[in-house]
Amino acid sequence: MLRQALQAVSTSPRAQALVERAPLTRDVVHRFIAGETMDEALDVTEGIVGSGRLVSLDVLGEDVRDTAQAARTVAYYENLLGRLAEAKLADRAEVSLKLTAVGQALDPDTALENARRVCAAAHEAGTSVTIDMEDHTTVESTLDSVRELRRDFPDTGLVVQAYLRRAEEFSAEMAYAGSRVRLCKGAYGAPESVAFTRRDDVDKSYVRCLKALMAGQGYPMVATHDPRLVDIAGALAVLNERGPDTFEYQMLYGIRPQEQARIAETGARMRVYVAYGTEWYGYFLRRLAERPANLAFFVRSVVTR
Ligand code: FDA
Repeated sequence: MLRQALQAVSTSPRAQALVERAPLTRDVVHRFIAGETMDEALDVTEGIVGSGRLVSLDVLGEDVRDTAQAARTVAYYENLLGRLAEAKLADRAEVSLKLTAVGQALDPDTALENARRVCAAAHEAGTSVTIDMEDHTTVESTLDSVRELRRDFPDTGLVVQAYLRRAEEFSAEMAYAGSRVRLCKGAYGAPESVAFTRRDDVDKSYVRCLKALMAGQGYPMVATHDPRLVDIAGALAVLNERGPDTFEYQMLYGIRPQEQARIAETGARMRVYVAYGTEWYGYFLRRLAERPANLAFFVRSVVTR
């Protein structure tokens, strides 16, 4: 219930204004967000890379509804990718991109062309792009865009959300050689008709998807903080005789950092999703929704100020 309420609030402009004005919010927010500027994000990236982990950088901002803003987002990503190359971080850090940040809600073709420019900049810098998966209403359009992008940029990653009833089908379809697939549970509200809503069912779906991806020819990216699923992924990798460079684990910045370090120390690939920027509201609310303790921490920081 609480999770669903927070997911609903994550799209409410009134709630956004309240949360953004709440005292001390920024300290709490910085647990999950690497900073507001490119320099801050690059410093964090350097630190993570220095500790033997990989990075995927996400510039916060979603649901862009004007063409000029979408174009600014593209230019921003181009600049970021140039900076990653200059700092010699591009072989250890990629970027994640939300199609709604480059105009999907305006027009999917515009978003596709914008995403193509970001992929071209990534290619030029010597790295790749993973396209995030958002609200369930955008899944078909996002999959179509990724299929198109992969014609020119085959290393473009995509995300499968295990809570979708069609997740296993998507995983099987996308488990081909060269295909980079990030498997996560799914962070948006979705109706029963398209998604599993019980945690147990989502976890079982995650395992079915993992089986398909690990048995396939692609490159699975196991995005979860759930210790049971991390263990199952490791066991499936052994069962399918996968070496450590044929798949990777992924976790979010600020969540289970010791576990991230432990996994990296075993010689496995561990990538940290580093979100940054000023448009942190939707991302932050989804992190609160994932764990009630986070909400308590947030409320405490406001009332005990
Ligand atoms: P679960 O929520 O069951 O958590 C397992 C354990 O992890 C918890 O018990 C707790 O210890 C810890 N934990 C999890 N979330 C926490 C939090 N917020 N704060 C503190 N501890 C926490 N979703 C999506 O819909 N589209 C996308 O494109 C992506 N992309 C993405 C990339 C990467 C790299 C990751 C790791 C995740 C995503 N997600 C996502 C988010 C994902 O769908 C999911 O909401 C979160 O990863 C939480 O689910 P877990 O698998 O961690 O399990």
